[in-house]
Amino acid sequence: MKTGIESISMYIPRFGLDIRDLAKARNVDPSKFIRGIGQEFMAVPAPDEDVVTLGANAALQALEGVDRSAIRTVIFATESGIDQSKAAAIYVHKLLDLPQNCRTVEMKQACCSSTSALHFAMATVALHPEQKVLLVASDVARYGLGSPGEPTQGAGAVAMVISAQPKIIAMGEHVGYYTEDVMDFWRPNYMDEALVDGKYSIKVYMHALEEAWNDYRTQSQAHFESFRHFCYHLPFSRMGLKAHLHLARLEKSGLSAAGLQAQVEPSLAYNRRIGNAYTASLYLGLLSLLETHPESLEGNRVGFFSYGSGCMGAFFGGTILPGYRKALPTRVHRDLMTNRQRLTLAEYEAFYTHTLPQDGNCYRTDRHRTGAFRLAGLENHQRLYEKVPQVKVLAADAAEACAAAPVM
Ligand code: HMG
Repeated sequence: MKTGIESISMYIPRFGLDIRDLAKARNVDPSKFIRGIGQEFMAVPAPDEDVVTLGANAALQALEGVDRSAIRTVIFATESGIDQSKAAAIYVHKLLDLPQNCRTVEMKQACCSSTSALHFAMATVALHPEQKVLLVASDVARYGLGSPGEPTQGAGAVAMVISAQPKIIAMGEHVGYYTEDVMDFWRPNYMDEALVDGKYSIKVYMHALEEAWNDYRTQSQAHFESFRHFCYHLPFSRMGLKAHLHLARLEKSGLSAAGLQAQVEPSLAYNRRIGNAYTASLYLGLLSLLETHPESLEGNRVGFFSYGSGCMGAFFGGTILPGYRKALPTRVHRDLMTNRQRLTLAEYEAFYTHTLPQDGNCYRTDRHRTGAFRLAGLENHQRLYEKVPQVKVLAADAAEACAAAPVM
């Protein structure tokens, strides 16, 4: 039985910062950020967006044309969770009016919990082929202002319906794993920004790639030439290319540098203009490959490497299905990518430093451009989400809004 991705969609914030503006403000040669790290633009969430709204917006699109009554599991993968106890999946479940006989759960292991979620979802539908799983991967990547990690920040969500009727890609049954206790990147509960040992994290990523690949080869008997395309976890776009060249060297691939670059380049385009989106990054890379490659990829095999700091790596493969292009909302994604507001540095820093109050008092977030869902505010320590009417409403008066507001 085939299991895999029946539908997939992404959502990104409606605001971003041009990486040249960041380089200028931080007094760095822009070519370091553009060529050295490989970034051009960074998605920046507005104060009325969080991982729930990003994820719900991606899921709304991914559920277009899908039989919702078959969804009995919602898995939300994130490392930017909004609550230590309640799963973000429950908020998404409510915003999307999904069936109540449903299991909802949140998963964590840095950037690669989305991949474990994918494999748990595949196991579920293999056991119950009539069921579908909604998988949401959503994150906001934050490092300190002025830190080396700052140009790699980003935000976004990918939602996928995993089923036994895949239309986009059928996933292989084998997965190579690697786990090791390391401190390359982490975020203690009391911090809003990640702590990272950047150069060390790259070494650990490469090591996890080697080990997960070796395990995958043992499990599956596959080899480097088994794949036409490769998608890597992308903390920044140059990382994908570095990882691929590393793997090709290990495997003594006879392909030219240009040939190797062609295997990975189409998967990097979205990351360059979004930045890191942690759990969503690998799957934004898959969307980038599927939606920007000029040729039809039907029948081609893709190798995936998922990495989560701390650390865990997973290598696996999939085969792109006939007719996949018809099942992709490429036009919607192009519109999201091109129709974003470029922030000034001051606006970016204001968004970055905005924090929600921690005293439980009534608070309403100013209204910014969002998708179909937004974070309306807080009350009694509870986040309030609302569906956005398809009309443009400008900055709400916070005090007045607290008295009214039909929010959930
Ligand atoms: P850095 O110290 O600012 O940069 O940190 P650098 O000095 O290493 O330079 C970067 C590249 O730019 C180098 O290229 C330079 O040569 C080049 P390379 O040698 O690597 O090929 N360069 C230039 N190129 C052109 N013109 C110039 C120029 N100057 C220098 N003028 C670092 C870079 C990525 C470490 C930093 O941004 C960082 O700490 N990022 C966050 C951590 C990260 O992304 N780690 C990646 C692996 S860990 C991971 O993927 C997991 C993660 O997603 C989290 C999770 O799992 O939850 C992060």
